[in-house]
Amino acid sequence: MEEKTYSFTKKQLNDEKNRVLAKFASVASHDLKNVVGGLSNISYYLSKTIKPESETQKKMLDLLSKEVITLNDRIVEILDRTRVKQLTKSPCDLKELILKAIEDSKTDGIEFEQQLCSAQVYADPDRVKQVFTNIIKNAKDAMKNKGKITISMEIKGDNIITSVTDYGQGMSSATLEKCFDPMFSTKLAKVVGMGLTVALQIVELHEGNIKISSEPEKGTTVVVTLPVLKEKDSSL
Ligand SMILES: Nc1ncnc2c1ncn2[C@@H]1O[C@H](COP(=O)(O)OP(=O)(O)OP(=O)(O)O)[C@@H](O)[C@H]1O
Ligand SMILES: [Mg+2]
Repeated sequence: MEEKTYSFTKKQLNDEKNRVLAKFASVASHDLKNVVGGLSNISYYLSKTIKPESETQKKMLDLLSKEVITLNDRIVEILDRTRVKQLTKSPCDLKELILKAIEDSKTDGIEFEQQLCSAQVYADPDRVKQVFTNIIKNAKDAMKNKGKITISMEIKGDNIITSVTDYGQGMSSATLEKCFDPMFSTKLAKVVGMGLTVALQIVELHEGNIKISSEPEKGTTVVVTLPVLKEKDSSL
């Protein structure tokens, strides 16, 4: 039998691995959501019908209900983050989308410095806003919610280049290499490690790219490149 040989670049292999893992996370969490729905019914039924015979039994029943709720919340979170829904693109101003992401991300202790310019893109506004919300969230985490985040934009030829810089803990080269991988996280808190995976997926669906440079203890710059609106797009 004839054997075929295929050759792939490292980027192609990596993209495919990420696509499969993101799909897996999404499908697995979907199935788990059904299971947890059943568990939630059972725990509700038990809490309403069983009369605990001891304080320990009562505590166990309470704990069961609580844990089922936590599990459900975590699965919903994973589903939300892995599902890049169908894009609904229209001509929009990238500056407005970034301003909305900043507005949603404002918290005490974080200062935003902006140099934004109006720039038309052909994009899904909610999804592109999500890209910047995810990136800003990481910047805030890296600075432990205290410090300055700089966001600047420039138009170079057919592209709009947006840079988000934080002065937080930065990334080691090993983290930098893996940061776009699905479910990769160095955080101990309740996170799923999907923020950058989803951001990259969305940007690539808009024919753009994301590049990151980072230095431990100094900070990180995330550069998002998106194409400017073309005439053919505005007539769609
Ligand atoms: N601005 C940043 N500064 C330092 N490290 C970062 C930054 N952005 C991302 N990282 C690193 O990349 C990892 C992956 O980021 P990603 O946003 O995908 O997941 P997460 O933030 O850990 O979890 P989630 O976004 O799902 O809540 C982070 O855990 C962190 O180690
Ligand atoms: Mg994140």
